[in-house]
Amino acid sequence: DTLIKLAERLPKAELHLHIEGTLEPELMFALARRNGVPLPYDDVEAVRAAYQFSNLQEFLDLYYQGMSVLQTEQDYYDLTMAYLQRVAADNVVHTEIMFDPQAHLERGIAFDTLFSGIERALQDGEQQLGISYRLIMSFLRHLSEESAFEALKTAEPWLHRIDAVGLDSGEQGNPPDRFERVFARCRELGLKLTAHAGEEGPPDYVWQAIKGLQVERIDHGNRALEDAELVKALADRQFTLTVCPLSNLKLCVVNDLKEHPMLTMLESGLNATVNSDDPAYFGGYVNDNYRALIEHLPITREQLHTLVRNGFAGSWLSDREKQHHL
Ligand code: HPA
Ligand code: ZN
Repeated sequence: DTLIKLAERLPKAELHLHIEGTLEPELMFALARRNGVPLPYDDVEAVRAAYQFSNLQEFLDLYYQGMSVLQTEQDYYDLTMAYLQRVAADNVVHTEIMFDPQAHLERGIAFDTLFSGIERALQDGEQQLGISYRLIMSFLRHLSEESAFEALKTAEPWLHRIDAVGLDSGEQGNPPDRFERVFARCRELGLKLTAHAGEEGPPDYVWQAIKGLQVERIDHGNRALEDAELVKALADRQFTLTVCPLSNLKLCVVNDLKEHPMLTMLESGLNATVNSDDPAYFGGYVNDNYRALIEHLPITREQLHTLVRNGFAGSWLSDREKQHHL
C-alpha cells in the first residue's frame, strides 16, 4: 500500500505510448457522432466488452478500426489532450508518444491534419500541465519498406519537429531486417531510433533491431530473456527496455502478472521501464501499470525507484533536463 502510494506520487516519464491507443470508448463514440462515422457497436459497454484479446493481432484489428473516427485536426487535438489530462493526474511529467502516420494516410487523412492536432495539444499540455514531450513517428511493419519510405517523404516538412522513429504493428513474420535501409536513412537525418521487438517475436528480432536497425531502445523486449547472450549485450550496452505490464497481460504475452518478467529483467541488469502502451485498450494508464506490478510481484522500494529513474534515464531529454529529474 505504501509502495503504491509512493509510485502514484513520484514524478514519472512514459516512453512507450501509442497516441491512437489512448482513444477511450466515450471519445470514440463522440467523434463517430461528430464525424458521421459508423461504428459496429451499440454503445460504450459493447466496445469495452469487445476488448478481449488472445494475441497482438486481435488487438491490432480493433485498434485500426477504432482510429477510423479520427478525421479532423481537432479530433487529434482532443485525443492527445485527453491523454495528457489523464496522465497529469498520474504525475507523468514527461512523455514520448508514438503515432502511426501510415494508418491515417491510408484513410486519406493529410499528414498536416494529424500532426498539427497532436503537436498543438502537446504544446498546450506543456504550457498548462507542465508535461514535456518527444514525438516518435512509427512505421507499420506489416506494410512494405517502400511504404515506410513514402511516409518518411510525406513527413519531410515536419521532420525537424519529430524526434525519433519507431517500428510497430504485427511482429510475427515481419522481422526488423526488412526496414534496415529506411532506418539507416532516418539515422542520417538525425532522428533517434527505437523498435518494437521481442513482444511476440523471437530473440533474433531483438538482435536484428540492435544490429541491423541500430536502435537505441527496445520497445517491450520480453523475449530477449530467452537468450542469455542477448541479455548480456543489452545490459552491457545499457539499452532501455520500454516494458508494458498490462499490455503484456491483455495480449497474453504473460498468462498472469505474477509471472511477469519485470524483476528478472532488473536482476539481469536490464534498464526496464514501466509504460502503458495502449491504455484505452489494455485497462490502465501508467499508475495502473505500477500498481499491477506492486500487487503481483515482490518488488522492493529500491526497485520501484530504479524503474522510475530508468524512465528518465532512458528518455530522449537532454542531459541537462535529465539531471533535473534524476
Ligand atoms: N505492439 C505492436 N504494435 C502496436 C502496439 C503493440 O503493443 N500497440 C500499437 N501498435
Ligand atoms: Zn507498443
